[in-house]
Amino acid sequence: MSHSLITMSYIVATILFIFSLSGLSNQESARKGNYYGMLGMAIAIVVTALSPAVSSYPILIVALLIGGTIGAFAASKVEMTQMPELVAIMHSLVGMAAVLVGYANFMDTSSTLTGVEKTIHEIEIYVGILIGAVTFSGSVIAFGKLSERISGKPMLLPARHWLNLGLLIAAIVLGWMFLQETETGGGSLPLWIMTAIALLFGIHMVMAIGGADMPVVVSMLNSYSGWAAAATGFMLSNDLLIVTGALVGSSGAILSYIMCRAMNRHFLSVIAGGFGTSGGSSAVVEGEVTPVNAEETAQLLLDAKNIMIIPGYGMAVAQAQHTVNEITKLLRDKGKKVGFGIHPVAGRMPGHMNVLLAEAKVPYDIVYEMDEINEDWDDVDVSIVIGANDIVNPSALDDPNSPIAGMPVLECWKGDTTIVLKRSMASGYAGVGNPLFVLENTRMLFGDANATMQAVLKALKG
Ligand code: TAP
Repeated sequence: MSHSLITMSYIVATILFIFSLSGLSNQESARKGNYYGMLGMAIAIVVTALSPAVSSYPILIVALLIGGTIGAFAASKVEMTQMPELVAIMHSLVGMAAVLVGYANFMDTSSTLTGVEKTIHEIEIYVGILIGAVTFSGSVIAFGKLSERISGKPMLLPARHWLNLGLLIAAIVLGWMFLQETETGGGSLPLWIMTAIALLFGIHMVMAIGGADMPVVVSMLNSYSGWAAAATGFMLSNDLLIVTGALVGSSGAILSYIMCRAMNRHFLSVIAGGFGTSGGSSAVVEGEVTPVNAEETAQLLLDAKNIMIIPGYGMAVAQAQHTVNEITKLLRDKGKKVGFGIHPVAGRMPGHMNVLLAEAKVPYDIVYEMDEINEDWDDVDVSIVIGANDIVNPSALDDPNSPIAGMPVLECWKGDTTIVLKRSMASGYAGVGNPLFVLENTRMLFGDANATMQAVLKALKG
């Protein structure tokens, strides 16, 4: 295949990847976004396979078959809830590929580069292996934590920040030694030591992070895997890999930033670790709780005209989305206005609630983002909070000393009545008490969200 045809195909693939990212930013266009991505990747693979860079087809075909079969098998078997761990283990493969390509380039004696170009190539190799090794070991640990093969508790070594700083300084010094030694044909020792250090750093960094912070870490490792792929692209002089790596790297970084902002946490405080382990403890809130039962809840819903449903992590735990959808249909058939208010970090992964609601076939046009509805609570007669806690906590706005102070929340208490479904008075992910539960216009419906929603559905049907 000619060079210009390859370049043109790579440009088409790049455009398709950009369309894919833009499609994935909205649930209505997400399916189309996936198709664009698949088409772009198919073009990238076919064109690269037909390029002069490939010298042995049997090896390539066997590798494609093995990789393709494993990927297709893993993707078809994975449960929706296991998606973050599948993504984590896939990132580890990108990291490993960057390390292997880096070593292959280092050992390749056919390179004719000299002077500055040679130095730049060696820096590419060093940085590619460094990022790849951190991505590889960090992603393997993230996979272990998400799949509960490793405890989700943060492992906090004494002086761990100093240890990290020491490892970083060692990597820089070894990089300098590597560049010096490659002048005389050496350099393998500093490269091996740096690889070991980068692997240790990846393990240590992710071991220190609480299980519940894993989504931010997976998104951060997604970003690292993109930069590792871009570094591999530089080593292989493959423009498409550089662009695709940069797209993945920057979109992963933006997603991590958005998640941290929605949690009102600094990215560095997530990486520093140790947060998100106190969930489930009893929250201290002063005041009287007003409990209701399923029949009373059904009556409140029947008396309301405008209803807003706020799903949270507990809805995912209870798998209540299908029952919630049935209730929604029934209420809409009775002429009620029903909407869903989605907080950007509701649940435990980006888009968690949107995925559950889409799975239950809730229509997209009644699912609203927080910013779309936070001004309109005065018009809401009844809001139902299903297994959500932190995302509806008024103390985020009222109490400057709260650990979640400043986090934007769904201000449902401004509506007429709020019904909160949960099993106990336990706190949520951030481990803080929620004064919403004792407000005068709040009613508590205790129990597993799916069981209570089914009881409400039964009562609504009469
Ligand atoms: P949480 O604050 O964690 O509250 C979930 C509530 O669900 C708990 O209070 C729990 O109370 C209840 N619950 C659990 N199982 C239930 C069941 N079977 N039936 C009924 N209720 C059940 O969840 P949220 O409001 O969705 O907030 C998300 C939190 O996770 C935020 O703090 C956010 O910063 C954090 N976070 C989010 C992400 C992303 S990307 N979404 C990533 C990392 C961290 P009981 O035990 O009393 O039932």
